[in-house]
Amino acid sequence: MAGPLPDGDQAPADGLFSNTEIQGHESRTFHAYVHIPFCKDICGYCDFNTYTATQLGTLKQSDYARSLISEISLSAEVLAKSGVAPRKFTTVFFGGGTPSLLPAEDLIEILNALSDQFGFVEGAEITTEANPDTVTVEKFTKLRKAGFNRVSIGMQSAVPSVLKTLERTHNPDNVANAFQIVRDLGFGTSLDLIFGAPGETIDQWRDSLEAAIALSPDHLSAYSLIVEPGTKLARQINSKELVDVDEDLQAEKYELTEALLAEAGYGWYEISNWSKSEALQSNHNLAYWLGQDWWGYGPGAHSHLGSVRWWNQKHPLTYSKKLESFVSPAAGREQLSEQTAALERVLLESRTSSGMSISDLVALEPAAGKKVPGLIVDGLIQGEQAIKGQLVLTVKGRLLADAVVRILTD
Ligand SMILES: C[S@@+](CC[C@H](N)C(=O)[O-])C[C@H]1O[C@@H](n2cnc3c(N)ncnc32)[C@H](O)[C@@H]1O
Ligand code: SF4
Repeated sequence: MAGPLPDGDQAPADGLFSNTEIQGHESRTFHAYVHIPFCKDICGYCDFNTYTATQLGTLKQSDYARSLISEISLSAEVLAKSGVAPRKFTTVFFGGGTPSLLPAEDLIEILNALSDQFGFVEGAEITTEANPDTVTVEKFTKLRKAGFNRVSIGMQSAVPSVLKTLERTHNPDNVANAFQIVRDLGFGTSLDLIFGAPGETIDQWRDSLEAAIALSPDHLSAYSLIVEPGTKLARQINSKELVDVDEDLQAEKYELTEALLAEAGYGWYEISNWSKSEALQSNHNLAYWLGQDWWGYGPGAHSHLGSVRWWNQKHPLTYSKKLESFVSPAAGREQLSEQTAALERVLLESRTSSGMSISDLVALEPAAGKKVPGLIVDGLIQGEQAIKGQLVLTVKGRLLADAVVRILTD
């Protein structure tokens, strides 16, 4: 969702799909991503499609749920008219931006629209992201009753000076309060952390990890800070106001993350994600990595169905205006060739702890097989797993995942 939208073909105004485009959907599960593009302040490092109240033009946050509900109705109509048999959602993920900035009533209305139009499978995972300052007992009691069952809290760091560099405005004490509220209400829990803020020491990162582990969440994501071009953080680094991210220190922090989380009983299942058990992995994230089908609702949201992917108009105002005129908010779409889709899937799977099948990879990239022994010798993939036919990254390989993929596909 970060950065400009991709090029691609013009999406038709009615949003309909051809038989070729929907090919392959029958064997996939179906998932919903709901984008809430509002934040109280924009963090200096963030390039996501999100806006403060003053950046929204004439669009009011209070009207936004109506636009999303229009897209949900449109999606049901488009899928039916395109010949896609009705399917229930396996997971729903409200992300942002800051979903928890909207009133509970709006979030519930959107969730109910998804339920009315499509329904949810038994035990569906229904997550919302939340910033620590926006979690109240009153709001989250309503969300829990309405069917939300998992909350991902943006903790990022436990160290005030690091939060300040990242321009996170929340009070670090609020993380534990917010966490307690959602846990007591029976939500599944996840915490998001970022490592590598300029000036962050290894001890400060250890403090953040230990504070997160002390809360004992079901699930943890730890992201290496990406300096996105065009962000305030990138400008601060270019002007030497802040030091650049140190790649060697990043590697050390990742190794520490794996060591402390493993010791605390968390298993990694994707490069940036760990959970207390397999059952507590994020099914929604896994759906992306395993190439399932999903509809992304909201401005700038990306979707994938059969062999087509598409993306919506980026600005919330343009997005809402399209829907008001009964026109699809899709800005562009792209038909994936069988070869591209298979290669992308294999590359995404390589980031997971299940890894990718070496025979599938060789079928797509015949030269890749010869490179496997060298990757084992260099300590980048697990030898034992390779003998069993799976390519699974070692901790060193996880640090160099992009390079491993380049070696395999060059
Ligand atoms: C876009 S946020 C949305 C949720 C919520 N607003 C928050 O900040 O926690 C989702 C996750 O992406 C992370 N993120 C955003 N920009 C990033 C960057 N440049 N590098 C690494 N992680 C980033 C955030 O820190 C957060 O954990
Ligand atoms: S609160 Fe989250 S979405 Fe909003 S600017 Fe910060 S990182 Fe980005």
